[in-house]
This record gives sequence, structure tokens and C-alpha cells, in this order.
Amino acid sequence: MSSVESQQRVLSGMRPTGRLHLGHYHGVLKNWIKLQHEYECFFFVADWHALTTHYDDPLSIESSVWDMVIDWLAAGVNPGSATLFIQSRVPEHAELHLLLSMMTPLGWLERVPSYKDQQEKLREKDLATYGFLGYPLLQSADILMYRAGLVPVGQDQVSHIEITREIARRFNHLYGREPGFEDQAEAAIAKMGKKNAKLYRSLRKRFLEQGDEAALDTARALLKEQQNISIGDRERLYGYIEGGGKVILPEPQALLTPDAKMPGLDGQKMSKSYNNTIGLREDPDTVSLKIRRMQTDPARVRRTDPGDPDKCPVWQLHNVYSDEKTRDWVQQGCRSAGIGCLDCKKPLEDVVIAEQAGFRQRALEYENNPDLVRSIINDGCEEARDAARDTLDEVRRVMGLSYR
Ligand code: TRP
Ligand code: SF4
Repeated sequence: MSSVESQQRVLSGMRPTGRLHLGHYHGVLKNWIKLQHEYECFFFVADWHALTTHYDDPLSIESSVWDMVIDWLAAGVNPGSATLFIQSRVPEHAELHLLLSMMTPLGWLERVPSYKDQQEKLREKDLATYGFLGYPLLQSADILMYRAGLVPVGQDQVSHIEITREIARRFNHLYGREPGFEDQAEAAIAKMGKKNAKLYRSLRKRFLEQGDEAALDTARALLKEQQNISIGDRERLYGYIEGGGKVILPEPQALLTPDAKMPGLDGQKMSKSYNNTIGLREDPDTVSLKIRRMQTDPARVRRTDPGDPDKCPVWQLHNVYSDEKTRDWVQQGCRSAGIGCLDCKKPLEDVVIAEQAGFRQRALEYENNPDLVRSIINDGCEEARDAARDTLDEVRRVMGLSYR
């Protein structure tokens, strides 16, 4: 696949943290499920990334991996539409990580904000390791390996996409300059025909001289349409617009996951570390119990006391799950003491349990048939490896390592 086409590729990964909760569903997974119909998608389990922080607890990783994959499948990630794989099963990621490490300045890694932040946060662990410093670079290798154009991630990962772009740029600058690149690019322009050649030249000039991003986009679109130039020429011209060499590793863009702000049982953000989650496939009785035990407006002590939904975590869940009519009913009923808190929670119980019914049913099929899950992952790993080998062949070649 050429770097021009790969702009339509989406890649994302998740560290195996075990069973997922509704925060993951409303934040990340719903987005993946939408994207899988719109793009060629690769989704993977970042098990090596888990080891960077959990190197002292290796045995818990395996069950976390399978639990998470089953949750993806249960939520509706479709192995027929997306390629699902496990990072460590595509060892090419390690080789690309190593090769990129040769040209990655140490300062770039030390300056990634998550490096110091996480060390501070996870004080009880010794994260002054080589592997942890390399966390963002391993992530860059994950992304660049598939020449992905779009990487759906949360706000906390944006700096990792940014360093990936810098690494790609540096790589292309160092290794994308074939001897005679300019002459070859000029020869390729001539092959587009007079009219397109003129248009390409003027767009390139506009971008190089005025930094006009729209001209860059138009020039890229123009190249995409060209039928009579080879893929190699197309990639040369793709890089030539920006003045550099051939684009070997295209720069990806972050596709920010819409901030779902899924509230947990206590009104804080839903998160395993706050112990306030509802699992993606939890049994209905537990879900009911969790919702019934949710804290409410502390000022509403007796049934006859009016309450204030703005001070109540239950209201936040209504904001995610309930329609306008139900929300009006809550507002009215709460403020006038017309409804009790259990009445208020009932529609939530119903809707959450109904949402989960589909997840539980699909999950059951996979829980009862681990071989099916393994075979989905085996197929995905094969497919990912094919794509990874293509990239790595070229990376080895331009880095002078293709002798055998
Ligand atoms: N670091 C990401 C996270 O913690 C996981 C991850 C690893 C990832 N490799 C990736 C995400 C590549 C996107 C692309 O969420
Ligand atoms: Fe919260 Fe609903 Fe009780 Fe009001 S009625 S305090 S919104 S649970």
C-alpha cells in the first residue's frame, strides 16, 4: 500500500487492563465501531506497553488480554470489518522500534509530558527504565508500521501522536533522499501532462512559499487522481510538495475521541482506580444493586425533602442515558419531592440493563468458545504481519539493511 492510500487507514491500540467498563464503551469502543465501517481499521492489544509499567506482574497480562478482546467483540467491534491483533504477536513492531531508536533524540522522549507525569503518579513503581522512556517510541512504531493516517485516541495521547509525526518527518528527511531525488521528481511531474503539471507546480509553490495548507491538500488530492504515474513516482511527488524526500513513513493525525465524560457511580469520571465502574458485561442483578446504592443529593435525607439534581451523580447518568421527557420528569420530581430516589433510578436500571443484554449475549458466545476468539486473533495477527512486513522491508532497505 502506498502512503497516499494509507491516509485512509485507522490504527488504535489499548493496553490490556482487564474487563472494560461503560466508560470505555461510551468513550472509545462506540467510536471504533463507527470507524470500522468508514475506514480500513487495525485495532490491537498493546501488551508490550502494559509491560512497561507492569513488568513486575507479568502473569496478570494474559487473562487481561482475552477479557479485553471479548469485551471488544461483545461491544460490536467486528472482526469482519476490522483487523484485530496482539502487539507481541507481530514481532516486527520490536524491530521497527529498535530501528527508529537509532535516530530518535533522547531529549524528544524525555520531554514527552506523560514520561514525568506517570513517574510521579505511579510513585510506588520504579519507572526509571529504558523501556518506559521508550513508551512513546514503541507507540510510534505501532502507528508508522501501518502507515496509518488517522489514530483515534484520547486527549492524554495527543503528545504521543505529535512525537510520532516528528519521528516520521525526521525519518523521511534522513532516509527519503534517494540520489537524484529532485531530477526524478521533476521527471515524474512531466508525466502528469501539461495541465496537471502546471497545477501541481503552482500548488507546491503556494505551500512552500506561503505555508498554504489548503494548497497542500489540493495537491495531494491531485496526486491521488493521477492514473498514469507509478506508485513510486506518486510517493516522490507526495514528498516533493513539502520540499523533502520521498515519504516512506507518512505522518499520522490524531483523531480525538469525542469526550464522552462518562460519569461513574459516584459522579467522578468512571475509572477502575476510583472503584466506581459498571462493567461492560456485568450480571443484571449486580448492575441493579450498584445503581440502587448510588449516592444521591446528600441534602435529600427524607423522601419528603426536595433535592437538587445538580448535586446528584444519578442525574449525570440520566444525562447520558435518558431522553428529554425522562430528564424533565427527574428535574420536576426531584425538586418538588414528587418522586423518590429509587423511582428516579429505575429507568436508569432498565436502560443500562437493556443496553448490556446485547453485550452479554454476544460475550457468552465467545466465553463458551475460546477457540473462536483465538482464531479471530490468529487471522488478525497474520493480516497485520503482512502489512508490517511490507513497511519493514522498505525501512530496512533505506537504512541500508537489505543485504541477505
Ligand atoms: N498508549 C496508548 C494508551 O495508553 C495505547 C497505545 C499503544 C496506542 N500503541 C498505540 C494507541 C498506538 C494508539 C496507537 O491508550
Ligand atoms: Fe438524585 Fe434523582 Fe434522588 Fe434527585 S430524585 S436526588 S436526581 S436520585
